Amino acid sequence: MVKNDLIIRVAGEGGEGVISTGDFIAAACARAGLEIYTFKTFPAEVKGGYAMYQVRTSPDRIYNQGDTFDVFCAFNGEAYEVNKHLLKPGTAFVYDYPGGDFEPDAIPEGVFAYPIPMSKAAKEMKSYRSKNMVALGALSVLFNINETTLKQVLTKKFARKGEEILNFNLQAFEKGKELANALEKTDPWRVADATTPKDVIVIAGNDAAGMGALLGGLEFFSAYPITPATEIAKYVATHLPKLGGTLIQAEDEIASIAQVLGASYAGKRSMTATSGPGLALMSEMLGMASMSETPVMLVNVQRGGPSTGLPTKHEQSDLFLAIHGSHGDAPRIVLSVEDVKDCIDMTVDALNMAEEYQCPVILLSDGSLAFSTQTIPRPNPADYTIVKRKMWDGEGTYKRYELTADGISPMVDPGTPGGMHIATGLEHTETGAPSFKPEAHESMHAKRFSKIKPVVARYKPTEVDGEGEADVGIITWGSTIGVAREAVARLRDEGHKVKGFYPKLMWPMPVEQYEAFAATCKKILVPEVNYQGQLSHFIRAETSIKPIPYTICGGLPFTPAQMIAKVKEIL
Ligand code: COA
Repeated sequence: MVKNDLIIRVAGEGGEGVISTGDFIAAACARAGLEIYTFKTFPAEVKGGYAMYQVRTSPDRIYNQGDTFDVFCAFNGEAYEVNKHLLKPGTAFVYDYPGGDFEPDAIPEGVFAYPIPMSKAAKEMKSYRSKNMVALGALSVLFNINETTLKQVLTKKFARKGEEILNFNLQAFEKGKELANALEKTDPWRVADATTPKDVIVIAGNDAAGMGALLGGLEFFSAYPITPATEIAKYVATHLPKLGGTLIQAEDEIASIAQVLGASYAGKRSMTATSGPGLALMSEMLGMASMSETPVMLVNVQRGGPSTGLPTKHEQSDLFLAIHGSHGDAPRIVLSVEDVKDCIDMTVDALNMAEEYQCPVILLSDGSLAFSTQTIPRPNPADYTIVKRKMWDGEGTYKRYELTADGISPMVDPGTPGGMHIATGLEHTETGAPSFKPEAHESMHAKRFSKIKPVVARYKPTEVDGEGEADVGIITWGSTIGVAREAVARLRDEGHKVKGFYPKLMWPMPVEQYEAFAATCKKILVPEVNYQGQLSHFIRAETSIKPIPYTICGGLPFTPAQMIAKVKEIL
């Protein structure tokens, strides 16, 4: 049986090559023309600890990493212990035995078991590192993972490590095939046969945000490394210089956001990327950007918080900080992405909005999306528009904070004749001169907040998934949207009246769109991965809706099954 939508999970000790194994399976499926959606979790320790990689593949569109696996490959006893409760009848179980560091309990009824002595084989070949390639060869045979493309991707990765390592791994792959061929395949699972490859790219969320920055005309990036955001800076550092741009690695997050403000003030399209702890440190300078009306864009890749929290785990708990994270009334625009394609498209939107509205724009991504690789149509630079900041036309007396009809005042590049002005974090008059008069603070507050209001009407309307009346409406955000899409579809297939509402413009809030959606639903469920129900809070604060919060915060994303069960509970 070719199950069109197949989920393979590989797990073991960090350092055993679990991540590479998963990457190879994902790349091979993508090269064979299939859709992929991957999810990986690894330990916060720099080496060792439980690492897991899950590939979901299908000829059809995939929106999340799925409920659980169909095929599970355990490299060690810890991986087996963590996942054995998921070995349900019908699942296939490949494990390192004999010669591994564990012997599984009795194989549950209906589970298809395949012992593969991957450690033993690798040791006999005097190349323990290649244990994961023995596993890969076995998986290739057992589940019809395209061997040609697998060999292409593993050669590409290991060739740079030298001929000897490459050959050890190719031999290990063949050994894995031999070991699998010696077993009788009893399970029904196999990856769909190669279809005609589409013109797609396979890219992870963080790399996609980096690509979006370049498509959005980025000129300056200042970074300070932090898990799980670092790869955005790595991607930009590799490619931005080729386009004449500059990336600086600053001494800390405060310096990096200050450099972004400085470069923007000097006329450059600038951004940084960080995670919760960094966003907290940047709060004061974001207030400076609000006050001085300086365009800055910041990608915040959320992780488990607060404090150091769960650096490598998934959470969407920075909405409070993103929307209100500065002292005083400090306006900003906040967007959040659903998937890897949004990481490209909405990074362009965020850069454009910062330039157009001359304020901080925070784009929220999250830990699971950062590392999730997905197949997306190859982006075409011609499809992206670059919006430039309003510049002074040189006529008359220049007033940096001129009170205009749309609240947006003309900027100048430093050194422009007649354009000299005071740019300050102090409250000020239209010229920028510091002023502590009540009318100055009142009028400038009104200006700074009114100028971003039009975003709600101008940004693409929030997507409504489904028509007519519904018993339950699911409102959710971030990568949790992908889970809701599948939950809504499966509930509808079962005859339930369920709809979805997927906001991406988080602030200013499109209140009327929320109200219009809620008016068609008897109940509103708000699933999100944080403890307090942060979006539910804003829904209660800004709309007349009475949401039913549904929060999890175990460092893992929702599964469609979880959401489906909750909807049935409240139905
Ligand atoms: N032969 C030779 N080399 C191999 C191999 C093989 N058969 N299989 C894997 N490797 C290499 C990989 O190429 C990789 O090296 P590279 O980085 O030079 O490419 C390395 O071994 C690790 O393998 P990989 O499969 O990528 O990861 P893993 O499954 O072994 O897990 C991690 C290791 C990911 C947990 C660990 O490397 C890591 O990233 N730790 C940091 C976690 C972190 O970020 N903590 C947060 C701090 S705040």
